[in-house]
Amino acid sequence: MKLSIFILFVAIAFGACNQKNSNLTIKPEAFHQLIDGQQVDLFVLKNKNGIEIAVTNYGGRVVSLLVPDKNGKMEDVVLGYDSLDGYLKADEEYFGASIGRYGNRIAKGTFKLDSIEYKLAINNTPNSLHGGVKGFCKKVWGVTQKAENELELVLVSLDMDEGYPGELQVTMNYKLTDNNEFVITYKAESSKPTVLNLTNHSYFNLHGAGNGDVMDHLLQLNADKYTPVDSTLIPTGNIDPAAGTPFDFTKPVAIGARIKDQNEQLRFGLGYDHNFVINKADEKALALAGSVYEPQSGRYMEVFTTEPGVQFYCGNFLKGINLGKQGKPYKYRTAFCLETQHFPDSPNHPDFPSVVLRPGQIYNSECIYKFSVK
Ligand code: GAL
Repeated sequence: MKLSIFILFVAIAFGACNQKNSNLTIKPEAFHQLIDGQQVDLFVLKNKNGIEIAVTNYGGRVVSLLVPDKNGKMEDVVLGYDSLDGYLKADEEYFGASIGRYGNRIAKGTFKLDSIEYKLAINNTPNSLHGGVKGFCKKVWGVTQKAENELELVLVSLDMDEGYPGELQVTMNYKLTDNNEFVITYKAESSKPTVLNLTNHSYFNLHGAGNGDVMDHLLQLNADKYTPVDSTLIPTGNIDPAAGTPFDFTKPVAIGARIKDQNEQLRFGLGYDHNFVINKADEKALALAGSVYEPQSGRYMEVFTTEPGVQFYCGNFLKGINLGKQGKPYKYRTAFCLETQHFPDSPNHPDFPSVVLRPGQIYNSECIYKFSVK
């Protein structure tokens, strides 16, 4: 008890220091609320270059991420809300959210593990999406600000939480380095055999959140292959070559260049909403997943991961109904996500890299979003 009071005090002290010299427009008070009897707050990470990341322990969400353009002008490049109420009231778009237990879709919300069939909530008819009705994005995480540039978030997900077996202990670390890398690491252990696929669902717009669409952003993916889907966005099981299709991003191409092509996969995804298979010799090695360059501002973002795949989604479901930070609407295709992950619906595809976590094993995953200018 005494230790937790001390940790809370340190966290508040860091928060207070962080408030000075900050370019953030959001106010930490707007996130100070009890949910399920647990304290929710806003925490700020900073590095020596003036980059700032605001995170709330409600859903482990990245609320704001300030990065400079080529002239040093700071802009908030992630979608989100000014207050906790924004997240609680709006339709769930998973802005900045930590996703678990299973990032992406599981077909018809069912899977078999060791001959036992498990049933999950169908929250994205006819499938289960991003951990179900009350996934990790809606849970209050325990939080410790370890340093001005580092936050640790912890969560215990009980046995059969949202239908998933095993009590799961998750530790997620957010660190902002002086090389302008936002490093996310995940560790987890389960008391029973289970499946796990954790990711972060930040939506980026390198013009700045709410400043137009992302069709002019140049995307490059380190992926020769992708996993095509059916009309409900469940992988067919094939792993297809991207060459010669609108899914070839092996050289930088504007996101909008081929998005209106006549293509069944683009029709099913309503645009890009697909898992790309990252080229790597060793499946678990940290490797470049891709990069995005926005020529006007010069902002450049690279994504590295230990995961075998990355979901490239370009905001096809955004409607601009819920007003985001500073009252800006987030309209159709005004952001992109690069969600590092195992492949969608892997529990039902034995040929895909395994997502099974057994007692005694430690789940490890890392994702780095690195910012610079060109
Ligand atoms: C993405 C997913 C999309 C959509 C979005 C949330 O991860 O690929 O299909 O569900 O989340 O609106």
